[in-house]
Amino acid sequence: MSIQIRSIGPCIGAEVTGIDLREPLTPAQAEEIHAGMDRYAVLVFHNQLLTNEQHLAFTQTLGPLENTARNTLRAAADFRLPPQMADVSNLDGNNKPFARDDRKRLFAIGNRLWHSDSSFKAIPAKYSLLRAVSVPSKGGNTEFAHMGAAYEALDDETKAVIEDLVCEHSQLFSRDLIGFREFSAEERERFKPVRQRLVRTLPRTGRKSIYLSSHAGTILGWQLPEARLLLRDLMEHATQREFVYSHKWQVNDLVMWDNRQTMHRGRPFPVNEARDVRRTTLMGEAPTVAQQDEAVAA
Ligand code: OGA
Ligand code: MN
Repeated sequence: MSIQIRSIGPCIGAEVTGIDLREPLTPAQAEEIHAGMDRYAVLVFHNQLLTNEQHLAFTQTLGPLENTARNTLRAAADFRLPPQMADVSNLDGNNKPFARDDRKRLFAIGNRLWHSDSSFKAIPAKYSLLRAVSVPSKGGNTEFAHMGAAYEALDDETKAVIEDLVCEHSQLFSRDLIGFREFSAEERERFKPVRQRLVRTLPRTGRKSIYLSSHAGTILGWQLPEARLLLRDLMEHATQREFVYSHKWQVNDLVMWDNRQTMHRGRPFPVNEARDVRRTTLMGEAPTVAQQDEAVAA
């Protein structure tokens, strides 16, 4: 079977056909997927009826998994999936939607802010692979914005300003934006900020992108109000519709995105309906910037 990759978005997103993700990938097929990711940043695979184990196995043929445990407030009673998988659904351990005012849900809906996965980790994520097991009757799209195209559309003066800037990222900063501010001492310690470059270069293509995320809350050496305003301006610029692909989910879709050159966000859906989406994550290759000792050791 040969793989076809067809562009579906403005400058981002392609649909992949001619591949069954339950079958082992040949090295040539894996390379076609990596090349497709470099070029389109988001790849959509429809009608992939996978078990969790097949989803994990496919992911591991593309690289080593990231450990996503402890990124959420879910406790053992809410675990539904293998430990290497992130539960991005709105479901508790009994497969029931979390109540509207459940603290775990209110933390989790922070992913409706534009972000890049694990930008709050010293070595942030490479690809994320999200699979839909059930979808709500309306809403719940995932939107993706291309940070390479957004970088290229900046004026030269702004490019020069941001070239060497370093930000601090934390889930505390993104949650602060939606007024979620009550954290225990243990959670504050767990969500301690890490540093990331504001401009990064994709290793295989040399293409630069703005490494932006709602987790970014400070710029080293800048006063906070100026830092927040610059980050806000960049966010507004980078999420204009010309850089965005919006994915409307169907059951058995698997969507894979490159966190190094995109941001994404979830969109709202009815609170009492199930949206069962499950994610595997590939580990990044290196930190974007040297970390303070404690952050690297964590
Ligand atoms: C994610 C994520 C958004 C969504 O899986 O990392 O942010 O639409 N998902 O579920
Ligand atoms: Mn995410």
